[in-house]
Amino acid sequence: MQNTGKTAFVTGAAGGIGQAIVGAMLASGTRVVLVDRDAASLARLADRFGAAAVPVTIDLADPDAVISGIAGILDSVGQVDILVNNAGILTSDKLATTTLADWHRLMAINLDAAMLLTKACLPAMRAAGWGRVINIASYAWKSGGLTASTAYAVSKAALVGLTFSTARETAAAGITSNAIAPAYVISPMIMEQLNEADRARQLRAIPVGRFCAPEEVAHTAAFLASPLAGFITGGVIDMNGGMQFD
Ligand SMILES: NC(=O)c1ccc[n+]([C@@H]2O[C@H](COP(=O)([O-])OP(=O)(O)OC[C@H]3O[C@@H](n4cnc5c(N)ncnc54)[C@H](O)[C@@H]3O)[C@@H](O)[C@H]2O)c1
Repeated sequence: MQNTGKTAFVTGAAGGIGQAIVGAMLASGTRVVLVDRDAASLARLADRFGAAAVPVTIDLADPDAVISGIAGILDSVGQVDILVNNAGILTSDKLATTTLADWHRLMAINLDAAMLLTKACLPAMRAAGWGRVINIASYAWKSGGLTASTAYAVSKAALVGLTFSTARETAAAGITSNAIAPAYVISPMIMEQLNEADRARQLRAIPVGRFCAPEEVAHTAAFLASPLAGFITGGVIDMNGGMQFD
């Protein structure tokens, strides 16, 4: 699981799952560029994690900021070996109440930013003959969203499609592209969305009888990023506590 000397780029690094992924990447010897729109949290994390954690504030809803931000990072760090597209927003509107403006905003963050960052990072990965792209999807991609919005479920299904296309287009170049599809991870995103009754109902629906810990998702990401996972590409790792097998 060691990945010493590599550089990872983790979006949504200030969030529940993002912080755990940053911790797991640092533990595997990887330098990490932490990207989020929340500058204050990033600064606190950089203090906590030390010199191997490099904070960069980017609003991923703004495609121009994404393109110039990643260009600046590639200039200063030289190479991104591991890209973790983890940032995402969760909404709850089903189709009947979905507006086009809300749809576009969610897609910009959950999908467009991942596409732009992947496109920007691939040339240097190709040149190095090694790379890892890890997309944090969701069980929503194949479950019709459950408690999430239509837009969220569609964005995660499209992110899985991006994972597959990236895998197909880069397999021969030593690059892998995989997704992780978690459900009900303990983080502000999900815990704030569910009220007490929702939480109790969801717990009853999860066969393993508990929510997922962010560290469990992070451990899977660190494994997919490691040299040991080089034969896994185009995979979607389900982390849904047994709610669905396929
Ligand atoms: N928590 C869950 O149960 C769960 C389940 C399935 C999938 N996911 C996915 O995991 C990922 C991480 O979720 P989390 O639970 O840690 O959520 P979170 O809300 O704790 O973290 C999300 C992070 O993304 C950042 N972010 C949001 N919009 C941004 C923007 N425009 N620019 C830059 N950064 C932005 C936020 O500031 C935050 O730090 C998301 O993609 C989410 O869809 C979460």
